[in-house]
Amino acid sequence: MSDAIYIRRLKYGDTMNIIFFGPPGAGKGTQADLVSKKLEIPTISTGAIIRNALKNRTKMGLEAKKYTESGALVPDDIVIGIIEERLSDSDCKNGFILDGFPRTVPQAEALERMGIRIDVVLSIELSDEVIVERMSGRRVCPSCAASYHIKYNPPTDGKKCDKCGAELTIRKDDDPAVVKSRLDVYHNETEPLEDYYRKKGILKTVQSQDKVEDTTALTFAALGIEVAV
Ligand code: AP5
Repeated sequence: MSDAIYIRRLKYGDTMNIIFFGPPGAGKGTQADLVSKKLEIPTISTGAIIRNALKNRTKMGLEAKKYTESGALVPDDIVIGIIEERLSDSDCKNGFILDGFPRTVPQAEALERMGIRIDVVLSIELSDEVIVERMSGRRVCPSCAASYHIKYNPPTDGKKCDKCGAELTIRKDDDPAVVKSRLDVYHNETEPLEDYYRKKGILKTVQSQDKVEDTTALTFAALGIEVAV
């Protein structure tokens, strides 16, 4: 058993359920992946599930397309259904990380109605100006969904995925005009959830740093799992 898992069990028991919260491009997915590997619990990203459904041209993916490509939120009933189904999978038995869910108060209330206990909501904070810069440099792997940044987290050969070798692409919703509307949606519809979880006493905040590893160190400290990262 790794040190991180040992400490996680000591602090939180057999399961640890975490929400990664924050504006688009704050680094939720990047940090969630690192924590997921360290704690051996899955990351569930509604954005990634929707993009995968779109890639496979499923009914849900095609329905969601018009919302994601304009930067709007996909209707609550669709994403709540996605989460309810995914959380029933056996790999969630020791805990999970929700990345990008909930994004509205009705989604948070639906999670409660499912009887899901949340231990920590970790909010990653970053200014809108830096977010716009980060999103313009993001590159993603269309095959395995790994995420890079041309300046801050570049792939080894510049254009191909380190993990699977596929040619990297730019997400359609990283177009600057769409990023602007995603930020508006975040401030209007999602940010109120910070107060919702603060009142429950489970909100922790981390200021996103210029280097991924510096944010990771703060993230682990905020989760109470202070191990070398
Ligand atoms: P989703 O995929 O969840 O997008 P998002 O929340 O907008 O977040 P991102 O994935 O853009 O960013 P991130 O915070 O994970 O940052 P990342 O780690 O990649 O959702 C997409 C769409 O799906 C939504 O707009 C909506 O339409 C729909 N949707 C999803 N969930 C929904 C829900 N619950 N309800 C309704 N609709 C929903 O980092 C960004 C970049 O910065 C990367 O290039 C990374 O390499 C770089 N970077 C990260 N950390 C650092 C650092 N510390 N320093 C420098 N660079 C860094």
